[in-house]
Amino acid sequence: MSTSFHSRRVYLETYGCQMNVADSEVVGGILSRGGFELTGRIAEADVILVNTCAIRENAEQRIYGRLGLFSTFKRGRPGTLVGVLGCMAERLRRDLLDEDWVDLVVGPDEYRKLPALIERAFDGEKGIAVRLSRVENYDDITPLRTDGVSAWLSVMRGCDKFCTFCVVPFTRGRERSRSVESIVSEVEALVEGGYREVTLLGQNVNSFRDRTRDFADLMRAVAAVDRDMRVRFTTSHPQDMSERLIEAIATEPNICKYIHLPVQSGADRILALMNRTYTVSRYRSLIERIRQSIPGVALSTDIISGFPSETEAEHRMTIDLLGELRFDGAFTFKYSPRENTRAWEMPDDVPEEEKGRRVQEITELQHAIALEQNRTLVGTVVRILVDGPSRKSPADYTGRTDTNRTVVFPRTAEEPGDEADIRIDRANSATLIGVNTGGTGAVRAFEESAA
Ligand code: SAH
Ligand code: SF4
Ligand code: F3S
Repeated sequence: MSTSFHSRRVYLETYGCQMNVADSEVVGGILSRGGFELTGRIAEADVILVNTCAIRENAEQRIYGRLGLFSTFKRGRPGTLVGVLGCMAERLRRDLLDEDWVDLVVGPDEYRKLPALIERAFDGEKGIAVRLSRVENYDDITPLRTDGVSAWLSVMRGCDKFCTFCVVPFTRGRERSRSVESIVSEVEALVEGGYREVTLLGQNVNSFRDRTRDFADLMRAVAAVDRDMRVRFTTSHPQDMSERLIEAIATEPNICKYIHLPVQSGADRILALMNRTYTVSRYRSLIERIRQSIPGVALSTDIISGFPSETEAEHRMTIDLLGELRFDGAFTFKYSPRENTRAWEMPDDVPEEEKGRRVQEITELQHAIALEQNRTLVGTVVRILVDGPSRKSPADYTGRTDTNRTVVFPRTAEEPGDEADIRIDRANSATLIGVNTGGTGAVRAFEESAA
């Protein structure tokens, strides 16, 4: 097949966590360096790549549905390649290649091979590359980002925690960190590129380590690059939430006062079965220390409902803990057994409807708490970073507070990347609604034109 008319066009679709979003940008960087062109239109694609997630059964089911659609598309347009990347590729390996419409299966540590694998696949040779690496961190690859206000930047890969329910240590392999220097220079480039916010990513981001420097050191180094750049991070594990890290968040003005800290359960027996390495009382005192050190900090968490052998009484402990700790947000999931994990060996004995009921109860409680938390902000003025037009109405713009609350307001002259001070008039559990008290966006524009 000839490549002389146009360079090969690749359509890339992404599922799963922010790490996958960041990985897709790395894949974009590798492909464009390899002479491929990225397209947002399936109809003109020579190659369709799907970066997948394996965290729960229903995540995989959804992706299978989508892959089915691509196989139909391929029948109508023979010669188009279909490749599966990411965590499902790593988990299912050869089983995926057995599907006659799958041409490529490439795991998270093998993306450098993509250009060569794609070329060979065009010659009819199916390709598989699923080795996990102890060193690959794509340190030298410039991710292909779409322009915007906010950038993802992965600073470490893999996970060594082996929570008993979790597939990530198997799909992502062992923990490894990038160097502080390479991360700082990438942040400098983001500042140059006009980004106003960067989120440092890792499945276990606070276990970052570059020789003698830990995650607190990295955060301070990144925050010092440009004080007008907001710095965020996700996801942190309670075990590695050090005093030094809390101190860094508290004292560096441009590190956002928002921490996502998954607790998973409010029952010690379940936490032990999950291998989470902390007890409820240790988690509680961690939250107390964070709130003492970082006034106004927002906190969110993850919960799994219906872990093997979880009783109604243990479910109530989770409910009580949420009522006590009053998180600003919580993501609740039905337990989903994953092959190879240690919990896979435990009987999945909480019935599906009961898991659903528990999730529902937690979600309703958390909804009410978030609404109360948001309502305390009505009448106050909050500083936001403007993201852009709201999805519901283009006359409205949205932005986020330092504490990661979404704010919607009628646009006056604000541009994405501006800061604005919004007076909050109304609130629901997910959003604050208000008006610009005037000035900040315009002030910034004035400062820029004066500079
Ligand atoms: N590394 C992060 C979590 C990554 S996965 C951490 O440790 O905090 C995101 C969330 O998915 C987890 O916090 C957990 O609540 C949920 N999750 C992971 N495996 C799951 C499973 N097998 N069933 C249901 N939920 C799961
Ligand atoms: Fe999974 Fe636990 Fe690692 Fe998070 S810390 S990715 S939940 S094994
Ligand atoms: Fe999913 Fe893999 Fe992320 S399993 S949550 S895409 S690390």
